[in-house]
Amino acid sequence: MREILIKPELYKFKAFEEFAQEFKLGKEDLVLTNEFIYTPFMKASNLECTYIFQEKFGAGEPSEEMITDIFNAIDENSYKRIIAIGGGAIMDLGKLLSLKRTGSVHDLYFKKVDVVKAKTMIAIPTTCGTGSEVTNISVAIVKDEAGKTTKLGLVSDQIIPDVVCLIPDLLKTLPFKPFAASAIDALIHAVESYLSPSRATLTSEQFGVRAMEMILEGFRKIGEGGPEERFTLLDEFVTASCYAGIAFLQAGCATVHAMSFPLGGTYHVPHGESNYALFGKVLEKYDAIKPDGKINEFKKLIARILGCRPEDALNALAALEEKILHLKPLREYGFKQEDIGLFADSVLKNQQRLIINSYVPLTRELIVEIYSECY
Ligand SMILES: NC(=O)c1ccc[n+]([C@@H]2O[C@H](COP(=O)([O-])OP(=O)(O)OC[C@H]3O[C@@H](n4cnc5c(N)ncnc54)[C@H](O)[C@@H]3O)[C@@H](O)[C@H]2O)c1
Ligand SMILES: [Fe+2]
Repeated sequence: MREILIKPELYKFKAFEEFAQEFKLGKEDLVLTNEFIYTPFMKASNLECTYIFQEKFGAGEPSEEMITDIFNAIDENSYKRIIAIGGGAIMDLGKLLSLKRTGSVHDLYFKKVDVVKAKTMIAIPTTCGTGSEVTNISVAIVKDEAGKTTKLGLVSDQIIPDVVCLIPDLLKTLPFKPFAASAIDALIHAVESYLSPSRATLTSEQFGVRAMEMILEGFRKIGEGGPEERFTLLDEFVTASCYAGIAFLQAGCATVHAMSFPLGGTYHVPHGESNYALFGKVLEKYDAIKPDGKINEFKKLIARILGCRPEDALNALAALEEKILHLKPLREYGFKQEDIGLFADSVLKNQQRLIINSYVPLTRELIVEIYSECY
């Protein structure tokens, strides 16, 4: 069994200019980013590379239409390296721009065409959540065969970036709320991979545990010192989210992500927030259904990090998270009673790659229970 996969070369730089010099950015480079990241960090360098801004193609997370428009706007022969500088959405779009265009975006996500790498990709995260810079997944909002909108992951080792550069300085402009939501997303990656029943390994666990320690220690400091405290912790957070990405690339994400995808796809809830809305309840169910398994180790681990008793660990974790981001019921995101059954069906139909990593078997009944209790 594979113990771990860490494919990209990993670099760390103090500032964008240092990275641009080391990698000799120039004419044959395509940089995908946002204008509000380009202006403060890249504009002054006056480089010859081509910049494209995601927001010119629509707002929010990648969708089938957005990707198609980007493909239409950028000639696939016009660049040799793709450099994605942004949040998970930019990273996931960058991965698609590193591929040969073998068919429509729909065909790509529904596995009707081959995934073939064509360009060198450099990934530079400016949030501290997805870990997408090291993973083999690109997530997009797509329409399934029934015409229903959901989020799907395109999974292939062909889309793992070749180089990752961590530049904590780039997170300085990230507002507190997306910072918090993305950090909780990374925490959930670490936890879901730690509890993954058949794919977790000793090595994936080390990355997951260290990520949990760094993120929770950071949350404790922010809880005490206030949101401004994060500026002293950007290196820790961007490194921890990368570790969590390495952990879940091996061991997988599970129930929280599977159940959050239809929510994100339908109501455009930011990824970290839609996961957070379900996370606490999922852990509670795991603990109630199978209290004697790995969840016990998990509670001991959280108790050690937070300085509480293992039996209080889940409550202490929820209380600490509440200091960082207010937990809202699903209905405040637009979720309706009738979605409970529809989303349960969508999860079972579209998210099998995640469901198989669930700590307890994920039945329709259990999904309905969790959505109902989070409603
Ligand atoms: N591929 C994977 O392995 C993987 C894993 C988890 C999630 N995802 C995907 O990643 C996306 C979520 O990523 P995310 O949480 O990073 O959110 P995001 O990419 O949507 O970014 C959050 C917000 O912060 C803004 N932003 C990002 N960096 C900034 C900066 N430095 N300064 C100012 N604003 C900044 C973005 O424009 C956006 O509005 C979703 O599309 C999700 O499906 C992918
Ligand atoms: Fe995630």
